[in-house]
Amino acid sequence: MRIDTLFPTRLYRGSLIGARRLKPELVKTCLAIAREDIAGQRWCEENGYLGYTSYASLNDLPSRASVFAELVRHLDSHAKHFAQALEWDLQGKRLTLDSLWINVMEQGSVHTGHIHPHSAISGTYYVAVPHGASAIRFEDPRLTMMMAAPTKRTAVRRENLTFVTVTPSAGAILMWESWLRHEVPPNHARGNRISLSFNYTAY
Ligand SMILES: [Fe+2]
Repeated sequence: MRIDTLFPTRLYRGSLIGARRLKPELVKTCLAIAREDIAGQRWCEENGYLGYTSYASLNDLPSRASVFAELVRHLDSHAKHFAQALEWDLQGKRLTLDSLWINVMEQGSVHTGHIHPHSAISGTYYVAVPHGASAIRFEDPRLTMMMAAPTKRTAVRRENLTFVTVTPSAGAILMWESWLRHEVPPNHARGNRISLSFNYTAY
């Protein structure tokens, strides 16, 4: 007999060349924007976000600071490799980063389960991950269809897990297809967990 594995869910894991060099500038710039962006601070307050995100207030980070533009150049190349691994035929279109936002998660901050609609590839670059900072948790996209499936054993092979937790380190790049539901459990670190999230669309 044989058992085939069909319809795999891909998670791209890369690391940024020059991450150590870029980190101080990225941290400084993210925190400076967090201090100055009044509209973003108001959004965080109204939505119970402990810390700061530019998600709802700023859409021009790469033109605000050259360090973001440099990061995007690297991310473009990673996204291209991921698209090749997914064997996408883009039919002359190009994968384009159309949103990039800062996340500064303070102690106790969470980001509940969500997907990124209207995008092809989504991901996160991890700028600062203090000891004890929360991981990211991905959910089996077929979960809502498992009406009568028995629960899994405690110890199962990774490909059979319903939830997969990935603990990132500073300098790591994660990318996934935008329909993949994910969440960030409570951040227990005392220091700020700083990341930049992004979406790519084929134009
Ligand atoms: Fe997300």
